Amino acid sequence: MRKILLLFICFICFSFSFAADKKTLVHNFNYEDLGTQFKVYDVTGAVVDSDISSATVIKDENSATGFGNVLHVKVGDVASYIEFEIPNGMTGTKASGEFHTLTFTILRPDGQPETFKGTFTLSFGNTVSLKTNSGDINAPVSVETTLSYGVNKVSSVSKKFRIGFNIKNVEYYLDDIYFWSVNYNYDYTDPLQTARYHADQIGKNLGVCVSPNQLNASTREGQTIYRNFNMLVGENAMKFDATEPSRNNFNFSQGDAIVNFAQKYDMEVRGHTLAWHSQTSQWVHDGKYSKKEMLDILKNHIFKVVGHWKGKITEWDVVNEVLQDGQNPGVGGGYQLRTNSVWYERCGEEFIDSAFVWAHQADPDAILYINDYNIGHWGGGHYENGKTHGMYNLAKRLKEDGIPIHGVGMQMHTSVGNLRVDEIEKTVQEFEKLGLKCIITELDMPGSNPSTSSEQTTQATKYAGLADIICRYDNAPSMVVWGIADNKSWLENCEQTKPLLFEPNFAAKKSYLKIVDTFEKYAVAASFEPVIADEEELLPAVVDVYNLMGQKVASQMLMEDIETLPAGLYIVGGKKIYIR
Ligand code: G3I
Repeated sequence: MRKILLLFICFICFSFSFAADKKTLVHNFNYEDLGTQFKVYDVTGAVVDSDISSATVIKDENSATGFGNVLHVKVGDVASYIEFEIPNGMTGTKASGEFHTLTFTILRPDGQPETFKGTFTLSFGNTVSLKTNSGDINAPVSVETTLSYGVNKVSSVSKKFRIGFNIKNVEYYLDDIYFWSVNYNYDYTDPLQTARYHADQIGKNLGVCVSPNQLNASTREGQTIYRNFNMLVGENAMKFDATEPSRNNFNFSQGDAIVNFAQKYDMEVRGHTLAWHSQTSQWVHDGKYSKKEMLDILKNHIFKVVGHWKGKITEWDVVNEVLQDGQNPGVGGGYQLRTNSVWYERCGEEFIDSAFVWAHQADPDAILYINDYNIGHWGGGHYENGKTHGMYNLAKRLKEDGIPIHGVGMQMHTSVGNLRVDEIEKTVQEFEKLGLKCIITELDMPGSNPSTSSEQTTQATKYAGLADIICRYDNAPSMVVWGIADNKSWLENCEQTKPLLFEPNFAAKKSYLKIVDTFEKYAVAASFEPVIADEEELLPAVVDVYNLMGQKVASQMLMEDIETLPAGLYIVGGKKIYIR
């Protein structure tokens, strides 16, 4: 295939006031995107109106790659680019050491003629200015490659960025497009040694549950949190009894402390939880409210809580632990709901559907999960796998009824002996087929009392095995551990059973180090070349050419073609140039 390497020189538009960026998912091409067409542009910024060049969201049958739905880009006989919106607030000039970061995953479908090798281009703005990254992309066929690039200035004038390659007649899949800020000014002891650094590179989350009193950045505990994790969840701070202690009287102070800390350290926050049979304020129980009153109470609670943190909390556990233990997936609708729940007792099953609808109305951008325990193992007779199938059937019913559910949270309060990583992977695969995310939300893994050294080695292997799943599956973006140090867990005897990733003095355990190794293995050593763009140094990619009399002699000319002009003096981009 003939390749023309089009050299692009470009500039990144310049400064606006710095905004504290948050990691924002631009596109992962959910099931509702299927069939969506994206416009394709050529280097001059014109729409490529060709039946050869196209960009369409399709279901990637090659599900082994865990891609699910992808954007299928076909480029005809002109190098083409796909344009996306820059998320709100993601513009401005970063301080030194901080960068706007674009991460995306690329895959070349089977049957392609050769390894895809081209220069990645990134443009901010719907002008023709394109950024040539410093390295070539080598995305061989059927290998999922995650790339990330950073620039320090992004103009808020134009709300677009483009992804494309300077290659003609090529085909590839795009997925998991994230845009966020990365700040290497943290006083990391050594970023390369932290799971967070590598997770950031590949757009994955390693999260931890916290309480406000742990968020002191001058303590070892506080530093351990922001250095090693990129997602927080309130252990109790955002539950019903903490946020609405009395009817329609809201207190967000605990949750605000967590959100503020997360914003300071560029971390994501997941909300836990809106409707749960436990830790629902006593007044709800005592009120002996009718079904309608209970639904009004729940609706008001959801709109006030989700609305308060709209745009700051990226995902919610909308309902928690609604399934009864000991499921019989072959009976009735394939699942049985927990009956000892004030919400179920007073409202029936519909409180689940309504809670998701209200959460979605309160924040349409939030990713909405149903969360439960003992729903990780798919089969094999281990450890209550029947609940997994019950959850599958409930989640399927919700989706089929058009309820805005986006994923399932596996709490995974497991144990070293019980956890079967291969069965967890099977569950992730099954929910991927449903078009649902499947994440780990409350992971802890106690050994026996006291836990032996060999158990702790097995624990490290299993923690790493779960991290491996998170790295490999598009629909499994996060794993959250339920606590930081072994002596501070909700579990009894935790100092003896050692369920978590850090020692009581916050030294990293083998389990943490194996998670770091796993994330690092997958983090593409992206040529993270921050561009300190300086406007007058660079020229736009396509220019008009004038002679010294100020008459236009060529328009919309590629920089590379300039040298083909007849010898002489010209004015290009406001500069005098001499063609020999
Ligand atoms: O806030 C009160 C405090 O005022 C009082 O002095 C103290 C002594 O009674 O209790 C405090 O409340 C405690 C609360 O945690 C906040 O610390 C509750 O007693 C205690 O029961 C509660 O435990 C939490 C538990 O959920 C409640 O079910 C744990 O910290 C928390 O880790 C645990 O987390 C749950 C998830 O939300 C859902 N999945 C299961 C997981 C483990 O149970």
